[in-house]
Amino acid sequence: MPDGLEIRDSAEGDFDAIEMLYPEAFPEENLLPLVRDLLKDPTITASLVGTIESRIAAHAIFTYCGVAGSSVKSALLGPLAVAPTWQRQGIGTALVRAGLQRVLNADVRLVCVLGDPAFYSRLGFARESSVEPPYRLPPEWDDAWQSQYLGDTRIPIAGKLSVPPQWLQPALWAP
Ligand SMILES: CC(C)(COP(=O)(O)OP(=O)(O)OC[C@H]1O[C@@H](n2cnc3c(N)ncnc32)[C@H](O)[C@@H]1OP(=O)(O)O)[C@@H](O)C(=O)NCCC(=O)NCCS
Repeated sequence: MPDGLEIRDSAEGDFDAIEMLYPEAFPEENLLPLVRDLLKDPTITASLVGTIESRIAAHAIFTYCGVAGSSVKSALLGPLAVAPTWQRQGIGTALVRAGLQRVLNADVRLVCVLGDPAFYSRLGFARESSVEPPYRLPPEWDDAWQSQYLGDTRIPIAGKLSVPPQWLQPALWAP
């Protein structure tokens, strides 16, 4: 992990730097409308930044969700972005770990993610087949839908993940 990495909740003063970060980290995908919409309502997310010498090097959002038919509090991790110059130096890993602790403190017991298992399996995520994503995924993405339980008690749950409206866009769940 780089020296000087600090992880904290994002603040309004970080928004300009966050706006710069996403096009750099995702040159082929425009995630800014989603990020802006999610950050408009601070009650629905945990939003963390990783800074080095006070400059934003990474950002992650955990959106609070429910699962139909269950009272277990859950969260959806994403997007997660590390600035290209800082990638593969442990920042993404550190940010996810800090975020998992952050949402555990907010009573979240299940975190889902749609992402590369090569990265997320190292962080304790495994393929999820009981909790369904909001939209049916293409079969080649089956392994990308992952989750992990947090805390000591594992209450297995099944049902569809219910996400806030910002995530109810089929394009976010398709190649
Ligand atoms: C993917 C991403 C969040 C990972 O964060 P990071 O700080 O670069 O990753 P870390 O240094 O913590 O961990 C790197 C390790 O994860 C694993 N890994 C697997 N796939 C990876 C990938 N696509 N990118 C980075 N690491 C990956 C490797 O084991 C890697 O170790 P190595 O460099 O020794 O091979 C970051 O590279 C990024 O923002 N990429 C562009 C945007 C993106 O694809 N985000 C999608 C998240 S689903």
